[in-house]
Amino acid sequence: MAITKVKSLKGEITVPGDKSISHRGVMFGAISEGITELTGFLDGADCRSTISCFRAMGIDISQENDHVIIHGKGLHGLNAPTNMLDVGNSGTTTRLISGILSGQPFVSALNGDASIQKRPMGRIITPLSEMGAYIRSLKDNGCAPLEMGGKPLKAIHYNSPVASAQVKSCVLLAGLYADGVTSVSEPVISRNHSELMLSGFGAKIKTEGLTASIEGFPKLVGQKIDVPGDISSAAYFIVAGLICPNADLLIKNVNTNPTRAGIIKVAQAMGGNIELLNERIIGGEPVADIHVTTSKLNGCEISGEIIPTLIDEIPVIAVMAACADGTTIIKDAAELKVKESDRIATVTENLKAMGCDITPTDDGMIINGGKLHSTIVNTYMDHRIAMAFAIAGLVADGETTFDNEGCCCISYPNFFNVLQQIVNK
Ligand code: S3P
Repeated sequence: MAITKVKSLKGEITVPGDKSISHRGVMFGAISEGITELTGFLDGADCRSTISCFRAMGIDISQENDHVIIHGKGLHGLNAPTNMLDVGNSGTTTRLISGILSGQPFVSALNGDASIQKRPMGRIITPLSEMGAYIRSLKDNGCAPLEMGGKPLKAIHYNSPVASAQVKSCVLLAGLYADGVTSVSEPVISRNHSELMLSGFGAKIKTEGLTASIEGFPKLVGQKIDVPGDISSAAYFIVAGLICPNADLLIKNVNTNPTRAGIIKVAQAMGGNIELLNERIIGGEPVADIHVTTSKLNGCEISGEIIPTLIDEIPVIAVMAACADGTTIIKDAAELKVKESDRIATVTENLKAMGCDITPTDDGMIINGGKLHSTIVNTYMDHRIAMAFAIAGLVADGETTFDNEGCCCISYPNFFNVLQQIVNK
């Protein structure tokens, strides 16, 4: 794949289904009674990992592209898997399924790829152990492979030191298997799809400020869910539409849940021409069409409470900052270091290679906008690095290529085809 500078960018596109909602639809459907039907499901490698884990525990799941039917067997319907579950590259699968597996009467184990085996699991081992779960990092390094389950759980209140929807969801899911009320507080609000969706499946769950609480042993009932487009995938095209010359793009049917939509606020703060059209609610989630056109952007500061609402978009936001006038400072984002790659390091390395003035910090980066030139992008097999730098390639002098762009299949298998349809060289 080679990306060169574009003359214009025009079109109307849809992006694949939301990854967080797709994972949760499969998981919650599997432990509910009756059928759950997902349309608009993200048919990417991560969500396929979730499907295969539940199939390995006896759940009948049929999938045809973005249409998935899950024959749920209720809270107590999972079978002990005969082999180690394979979570692939998916942190969401790992941390959420661990909440469910910890509550099972059987012991099971999971493992994933090289990236997963480096990601911190102490953040779920701590609260699950407090709940009385047996859970252990098999290499004693706080990472996968993990083994868990076989012991009864007790309800706790957990004060999470990190704003992480994966930690919050893990504890809430374990709470389904504990008598009484389990609650979890986080320092800053993280994405709330678990809370919204579990309530739709019939769980008794409530949110007050930064605390979510759930009652144990509810009867969950299968749902029909129309998964909206993923704002994390829309983000690449939002930025493309703002930084490319002669751009006019409409990105249809995007989830704009405020716990996810920080990139829209940042684009506005930087002076971007971005508008939300046809705003509506689908299945409890806000959805809109996003219209972007070429903009003159200025740097800004991105820090504090907004960070969890745009954490996955920071690589492409950094590209936007590299194309803006002036300085952009990203702070309070140390979580970037423990994503699919260390994204402070991988964004810095690639933007530097494109001629950008960028300084990494302990919890973010400082970027001075300017002109970019091409490079061979080192993706570190991180899907979001590959796609963010494909967007940088649209405005860079020369031909931008990749060590391996195949990693896009994690969240957006069709990304380069869609990009090709809208560019005009
Ligand atoms: C996710 C939560 C986020 C995000 C990840 C998906 C989820 O991780 O980075 O891509 O679906 O819950 P953290 O909650 O650990 O920040």
